[in-house]
Amino acid sequence: MPKKPTLTFTWNDEMNVGIPEIDEDHKPIIFSINEFNRSITEGKDPTEIKRHLQLIIDEAIRHFSKEEKLFKEWQYSETTSHARLHVHILKAMQEIKDGFIPYGSDSSWMRVGITIKNILVEHFKNEDVKYAEFRQAGTGSR
Ligand SMILES: [Fe+2]
Ligand SMILES: [Fe+2]
Repeated sequence: MPKKPTLTFTWNDEMNVGIPEIDEDHKPIIFSINEFNRSITEGKDPTEIKRHLQLIIDEAIRHFSKEEKLFKEWQYSETTSHARLHVHILKAMQEIKDGFIPYGSDSSWMRVGITIKNILVEHFKNEDVKYAEFRQAGTGSR
């Protein structure tokens, strides 16, 4: 009997940016990505899957705007380019959501799940970590 695929992944330290209020924001997003992927592997109906995706989008919107507010406070030098990445991510997720109905086969749904996960987790690991470094390096004083 074929084994049911699983796309669940757990939070690991590599995803930590080291700023507690940010990490506490990232964790529920990871949780929602897992829920989304679970709805795909469990073959839930498209409305349900789409609802999970919308939840990720809503959380990302909220989180990105919070980051951007903090950037202003911190006078982060890469605010503009980082905010541009947020725009790209939201656009990519929105496109995936809009193109959802045509995805028919299980494997294409899985691909969507993996794509969403990669887009966000890579952003946390590779981009968000940069402002954390900036924070650490830049401010000898608080
Ligand atoms: Fe973030
Ligand atoms: Fe970010």
